[in-house]
Amino acid sequence: MEELIFAEDIEKYYGNKNNLTKALDRVTFHVNRGEFTGIMGASGSGKTTLLNVLATVDTVTSGHIYYGKDDITVLSEDQKSDFRMENLGFVFQDFNLLDTLTLEENISLAMSLTGKGKKEIDTHTREIMERLGIWELRDKFPYQVSGGQKQRCACARALINRPRIIFADEPTGALDSKSARMLLETFIQMNEEMKATILMVTHDAFSASYCKRILFLKDGQIFHELVRGSQSRKDFLNEILDVLSVTGGDGDVR
Ligand SMILES: Nc1ncnc2c1ncn2[C@@H]1O[C@H](COP(=O)(O)OP(=O)(O)O)[C@@H](O)[C@H]1O
Ligand SMILES: [Mg+2]
Repeated sequence: MEELIFAEDIEKYYGNKNNLTKALDRVTFHVNRGEFTGIMGASGSGKTTLLNVLATVDTVTSGHIYYGKDDITVLSEDQKSDFRMENLGFVFQDFNLLDTLTLEENISLAMSLTGKGKKEIDTHTREIMERLGIWELRDKFPYQVSGGQKQRCACARALINRPRIIFADEPTGALDSKSARMLLETFIQMNEEMKATILMVTHDAFSASYCKRILFLKDGQIFHELVRGSQSRKDFLNEILDVLSVTGGDGDVR
């Protein structure tokens, strides 16, 4: 498998000399292309910090993060924003759709910002919307469609620039269990059919069971890793719950 990200010995401290929080403690791991990886851990374990430093939204205190040969910890602010636009996709908890734009416009806007031509943007927007089953809704506004359809629109927007990886921080955190299931099924579709690489942060065992691999964080350190392999999602869920029961996680079961 092709390696996409290598995080090497990363540390993150917040605060100053008198009031220091160590949010990440010598974290090292790889993400390969095509993986659907979960980061699990209790509240305060460092999940969001880890996602933010991988996504260049926050900086590490020490250590390196390589995308291929490129070390993103040395980029300037301008270089980071270009890097994000060209390489990363995000699915936000509240989906962040613009209410004054149609679904199609919400998706194509993300591609217009990269300076691509109209024809390519239109063709590609249609292709992604058809794949996610929302092309018929292209002229609707976000408030005119269901929660599940808004999710698919947010996923299409995350995919539109063919990102190397998609990040999602607790994407199911504000959803009821049916909506959560639908979003997770969409992630599976994106990962399996569209070969998207996804990194999802969650404290919830049910959501994590949809991943192919899970890294467990505690006090800013990776203390365990599970790979789903060929086992069913239900068996994988039980395996996750076993890890949490040993370590005292706060994952809830739905
Ligand atoms: N901006 C910040 N300033 C100070 N401390 C922070 C900040 N963000 C997070 N922390 C602290 O870092 C630790 C990890 O936080 P976070 O990454 O948000 O964990 P999680 O997402 O797993 O809940 C916690 O102790 C949290 O209080
Ligand atoms: Mg968090």
